[in-house]
Amino acid sequence: MEIKRVGVVGCGLMGSGITEVCARSGYDVLTTDIKQEFLDKGIGNIWTSLERGVKKGRLTEQEKDAIAGRIRGTLNMEDFSDRDLVIEAAIENMAEKKKIFAALDKICPPNAILASNTSCLSVLDMAIVTKRPDKVLGLHFFNPVPVMQLVEIVKTLVTSEEVISIGEAFCKSLGKQPVHCKDTPGFLANRLGMAYLVYVFRCYEQGIASKEDIDKAMRLGFNHPMGPLELSDFIGLDTIYYIMVSMYEELHDPLFAPPVILKKMVTAGQLGRKTGKGFYEYK
Ligand code: CAA
Repeated sequence: MEIKRVGVVGCGLMGSGITEVCARSGYDVLTTDIKQEFLDKGIGNIWTSLERGVKKGRLTEQEKDAIAGRIRGTLNMEDFSDRDLVIEAAIENMAEKKKIFAALDKICPPNAILASNTSCLSVLDMAIVTKRPDKVLGLHFFNPVPVMQLVEIVKTLVTSEEVISIGEAFCKSLGKQPVHCKDTPGFLANRLGMAYLVYVFRCYEQGIASKEDIDKAMRLGFNHPMGPLELSDFIGLDTIYYIMVSMYEELHDPLFAPPVILKKMVTAGQLGRKTGKGFYEYK
């Protein structure tokens, strides 16, 4: 099966990034969201990113226009009736995701592949609301999508090998480097990454070092591009909290029990860059 037409559900940070990389790689992309203002914002971010590409000499005006010409937004998911692959990048809420997968199953052609960009939820739970659970997989991208090389390919108990192979070829066609993982909470990267961040928060809570020194230690000592607290602000503390809670609930492993400091900061609305304050302040 050849993938030509891609649909992306959700045009937020991840959905707009996925839309951009698909269009850059020659796919016809249709993206949808629940409100026009969300679509406008996401597509606006894509235009800004393409403009930056032109300014930096990585794209010609013609290439930029061709990429932009491959992207369309719609508020009507019924328009996804001709899509070969749909990637869901909506809110991390299982009830909402199930609604989206059930709707996509009715709208999309019977052979279309349905993927979720979830960072921690069970892909199988989304698959079983469809009549094509063998054609459902996880394709988990990382933020910022145009920059980050990794995509996790998540195989549920019932995803077919053929669909996994198509998913892998698709990720490679985007210039990404896939890893394969089982449909377990946090998959691979967040299983490892959250174990790291949860321990960082505990060290910070215990006053082992200042936030600046914690970040400096990992930036300079381990050559990470961002220290863990800067990275947490970048990801969003609400997102991290949500991932930790869902991993803790599924795995019952005390390692992933969210530290009190994280819960308090989320309650106070200190979510990181997106609210202007997290571990650090942002203008
Ligand atoms: N979109 C597109 N391009 C972007 C971008 C964005 N949002 N942010 C940065 N870039 C590009 C810049 O244009 C620049 O490109 P060139 O070098 O070609 O000019 C390049 O990335 C570097 O950017 P900057 O010089 O502005 O800044 P930097 O060197 O500090 O890099 C960074 C920024 C790429 C974000 C880097 O700090 C980094 O890699 N941080 C770690 C990010 C990370 O770990 N992400 C994973 C989060 S976890 C996740 O996503 C999974 C989950 O489920 C929670």
